[in-house]
Amino acid sequence: MRFPPALFLPLQLAALLAAGTREAPVSAPRSLVWGPGLQAAAVLPVRYFYLQAVSAQGQNLTRSAPGQTLFKVLVKSLSPKEVVRIHVPKPLDRNDGTFLVRYRLYDTVHKGLKIEVLYGDEHVAQSPYILKGPVYHEYCECPQQDPQAWQKTLSCQTNEPQIEEDFTSFPSINLQQMLNEVPKRFGDERGAIVHYTILNNHIYRRSLGKYTDFRMFSDEILLSLARKVHLPDLEFYINLGDWPLEHRKVNETPGPIPIISWCGSLDSRDVILPTYDITHSTLEAMRGVTNDLLSVQGNTGPPWSNKTEKAFFRGRDSREERLELVQMSKENPQLLDAGITGYFFFQEKEKELGKAKLMGFFDFFKYKYQVNVDGTVAAYRFPYLLLGDSLVLKQDSPYYEHFYRALIPWKHYVPIKRNLSDLLEKVKWARENDEEAKKIAKEGQLMARDLLQPHRLYCYYYRVLQQYAKRQSSKPEIRDGMELVPHLDDNISICQCHRKRPSKEEL
Ligand SMILES: *[C@@H]1O[C@H](CO)[C@@H](O)[C@H](O)[C@H]1NC(C)=O
Ligand SMILES: *[C@@H]1O[C@H](CO)[C@@H](O)[C@H](O)[C@H]1NC(C)=O
Ligand SMILES: *[C@@H]1O[C@H](CO)[C@@H](O)[C@H](O)[C@H]1NC(C)=O
Ligand SMILES: *[C@@H]1O[C@H](CO)[C@@H](O)[C@H](O)[C@H]1NC(C)=O
Repeated sequence: MRFPPALFLPLQLAALLAAGTREAPVSAPRSLVWGPGLQAAAVLPVRYFYLQAVSAQGQNLTRSAPGQTLFKVLVKSLSPKEVVRIHVPKPLDRNDGTFLVRYRLYDTVHKGLKIEVLYGDEHVAQSPYILKGPVYHEYCECPQQDPQAWQKTLSCQTNEPQIEEDFTSFPSINLQQMLNEVPKRFGDERGAIVHYTILNNHIYRRSLGKYTDFRMFSDEILLSLARKVHLPDLEFYINLGDWPLEHRKVNETPGPIPIISWCGSLDSRDVILPTYDITHSTLEAMRGVTNDLLSVQGNTGPPWSNKTEKAFFRGRDSREERLELVQMSKENPQLLDAGITGYFFFQEKEKELGKAKLMGFFDFFKYKYQVNVDGTVAAYRFPYLLLGDSLVLKQDSPYYEHFYRALIPWKHYVPIKRNLSDLLEKVKWARENDEEAKKIAKEGQLMARDLLQPHRLYCYYYRVLQQYAKRQSSKPEIRDGMELVPHLDDNISICQCHRKRPSKEEL
């Protein structure tokens, strides 16, 4: 341990006392920097890394000093000859002594990148960080041929319990049976199914049914994956509708088939993917999308003790309990602030319950408690609510997303009954047990920060495709009516991929 000079101690102590709980100043060299954004090979739409402020005594800071942070990040091309467009916003202050740094590359650099992390004028940790090139940007088509190497670069989990569980019903996948059954069972007029085949890392598809506009979301992530890693050959069906589809039981004849969906439920067998909502916002973050899994982390409202001690809800009328919630709020305005922002399903209720003004999502976190009530299926805002700095009160639900399995009630969130009969009681409990409520909020946030990192979404997608591919009992084929899903072909995708051999014509 290092001690400050003895004479200085009383003075410093006095200063500390005067400032109340003010924390020690930041030490640039002792602060920590880590994350996938420091690795050249971890190609992601938005690259990111983390920063932990540490004091000269080696203690992690747990709060940020008020005002603007002195952390600053510069990202440059290593070679002055290579002109690249890089968007580097200010580090996001997560209000707990940690920061999230993001940058988006719009060009590929061959020589490499230099990342300087500064505190004032001083370099932080091992800054500058040199990323030896090539460093590819999101839109460069340059798949890593070895999926294991790619997974290793992203530190993918070797075990995803939800995926293992989803595939236990499907030890073998009969593509011919799927081809005979899926269009008949799910591909009618009102269907929302897209049939994909991936061969040689090319993506083909045909739509089954009328409601398949959301295929833009499945297309964009499949293309994004195929640019980064060589995908296995496979043939599958994605359900773009809200509800999971396969309700056959495992012991029935005929048995269930592996439809891929964005939301799971306890009474269905669909294989699930991260929802289109978090996927799309991950792909388009810093390009128009403002509410994504990273940006929300720097916009969590006032510190815990300054948040309004009420449970909060805003949303559309997509489920009856949401209306009941608003009714409850009218009767208990001191505990609950709930409002419906748009009527569609229960339009006759608008007169009685009124319509709440739209509110920016980040303003939700002015409230200490957030109520999560299902919409038509799981409420896709749940991941964002967890990432905030509020306690989430989650309605019991048969619906789930890909990451719920890792969450434990009373550890990461407070459960409430499906009919909301114990909601007010739980809000009162939280008010009376502030320390515990704060701890659950924090644990939920830390878990979500870990589970919902963008690179883990990519890992998850890849693993689903991989598990599916190895169970296929015949070769995938390009079927009648399928068309190629093309990669972007404009100046944003221009790059030189070192993995591509020159084509025969050029030899
Ligand atoms: C300090 O923070 C880092 C990163 O957040 C963490 O890994 C480490 O365990 C923390 N150290 C202590 C002593 O809490
Ligand atoms: C929190 O509240 C205190 C006193 O009510 C106030 O002085 C302080 O500025 C507030 N902090 C923030 C970040 O809102
Ligand atoms: C709410 O659901 C619980 C079961 O979870 C049940 O015991 C209770 O009677 C229900 N309350 C109302 C008001 O329907
Ligand atoms: C890319 O093309 C668009 C129009 O298609 C043009 O406005 C833009 O300047 C081009 N950018 C570069 C870097 O060439």
